[in-house]
Amino acid sequence: MANNRGQWGSRLGFVLAASGSAVGLGNLWKFPYLSWKNDGGAFVIAYIFAVLLLGLPIMMAEILIGKKAQESPVPAFEKLGGKAWSLVGWLGVAAGAVILAYYTVIAGWSLRSFFQCVLWSVEGYTAPGPNDFGVFLGNGALQIGLTFVFTILTSVIVYRGIGGGIERASKIMMPVLYLILLYLVGTALLMPGRDEALRHLFVPHFSKMTTTTALEAMGQAFFSMSLGLGAMITYGSYMKKDESVFRSSLWVLIADTSVAILAAIAMFSIIHSVPSLVQKMEANELNAVGMLFVTLPALFYTTMPGGVVVGPLFYVLVAFAALTSTISLGEVVASLLIDRKGWSRSKATLVSASAVFGGSVLCALSLGAVEPLSTIELFAGKQGVLSNLDHLAANWMLPLGGLGITIFVGWFLGKKACQEELGLQKATAAFTAWLWIVRVLAPLVIFIMLAAILSGKDFS
Ligand code: PFF
Repeated sequence: MANNRGQWGSRLGFVLAASGSAVGLGNLWKFPYLSWKNDGGAFVIAYIFAVLLLGLPIMMAEILIGKKAQESPVPAFEKLGGKAWSLVGWLGVAAGAVILAYYTVIAGWSLRSFFQCVLWSVEGYTAPGPNDFGVFLGNGALQIGLTFVFTILTSVIVYRGIGGGIERASKIMMPVLYLILLYLVGTALLMPGRDEALRHLFVPHFSKMTTTTALEAMGQAFFSMSLGLGAMITYGSYMKKDESVFRSSLWVLIADTSVAILAAIAMFSIIHSVPSLVQKMEANELNAVGMLFVTLPALFYTTMPGGVVVGPLFYVLVAFAALTSTISLGEVVASLLIDRKGWSRSKATLVSASAVFGGSVLCALSLGAVEPLSTIELFAGKQGVLSNLDHLAANWMLPLGGLGITIFVGWFLGKKACQEELGLQKATAAFTAWLWIVRVLAPLVIFIMLAAILSGKDFS
C-alpha cells in the first residue's frame, strides 16, 4: 500500500509542508503574547531552550515513527508496536480532529479581517464601534459561513494529495508568508518604539525567569512545533527512506522559531510605539485575540506607516499561516481513513472534513450565538465549546500524546531501529544524547507539565 500513498517530491517539499504545519496562529498571536507576559527576553531564551532541548528531539522521534512505518499514526503504532500502542495513534487523531474543529473557526476570522482591511484601504478608514468584534463573534451565520469557506480551502488541498496538493500549496504559501512577514517587520521597525521593543525582546532579566516562564515556553514549543498528535508522524510517513530526519527537523525548527520571533519583533515595535497600548498590556487588559483582530487592524490605519498596504497583507499572512496548519491537521484525520480503511483520498477527505465541520459548527456557535453552547463549562473557568476544546487539546491531549510517543520511541522501538532510521552506522555521542532525552528528559518534563496542569496551570 505504501507506494500509492504519495510521497514528497523533495526534502524542500517536506520541510516547507512541515514548517507550514508548525507556523500558524500560535506563532503570530500566542508567541508574542506569551513573550510579553513573561518579560520578553526571559521568555525568548526559555523558548529557544525548549525547542532545542525538547522540541527538536520529539519532532525527530515523530518523524522517525512515520518514516519507518510509512503509515499514518494509528496503523504506524500498530505496525511497529502492536494493538495496544495504536491507542497513542488514536489519541493523536482525536486531538487532530479537535484542534482542527476550533482552529478553523479562528482561521475564518482572518478572512473577515482581510475583507475589512481591503475595504478600509479602498474607501478610507472608519473606526468600528466599541463592541464591533463582540457582535461579529455573536453572528452565528457569519461564523459558520467563514468556517465553511476555510474548511473548503483546507479540504481542496488535502483532496489533491501529498505532492500535488499539500507540497504544492506549501511551496507557494510559505515563501509568500515569509515575504509578507519581512515586509511587516521592516515597516514596524520604522516606528518609534523599535529600540524599546528590541531591548524588551532580547535583553532578558534572568530574575524574571520563573518556573511559569519555563512551563509556558514548553507548552508553547509543543503546540507551535505541531507535536504530540502525530502530525509529524503523518508527514514523516511520506518521506523518502534516505532523507535525513535530523536535518529536516532542524530546518522546520528554524523556520518555525524565526517566524515566531519576527512576529514578536513586529508586535512589540507596534505596541511600544503607542503608550496607551503599553499601559493596556501592562494592566493585562488586552488578550492575544483582541490584539490580533481588534487592536492591530485599527493601528494599521491610524499609526503605522504604509498601513494601507500592510493591513490587507497582514491578514493574507494570517490566513496562509493558518491554512498550512489546517491542511496538516486535515491530513492526519483523512490519512487514517485512507491507510486504515483503504478508502480513496476523495472519499476520506469528504467524510473526515464533513465530520470535523460538524464540530466546527458547534464551536462557531459557541461565541455568543447560541446560549448553552456559549456558556457550557466543562473545565473550570472555560466558557463555551471552543474554549473548552482548546483547553482539552492543549492541556491534556498533546502532552499525553507526547508522552506516549517519547516512551514508545525511547523504550520500545529499540535502539538499533532508531539508529537505522536516523541513518547512522554507529551510536554517536549525539545519538546517545538524543536517545536519553527521548527516554528520560522529555517524559519527565511532560510529567511535570501534567502535574502543573493538575494543580491549575493552563496552557491553552
Ligand atoms: N503549530 C500550529 C500553530 O502554531 O498554530 C498549530 C498546530 C498545527 C498544532 C498542527 C498541531 C498540529 F498538528
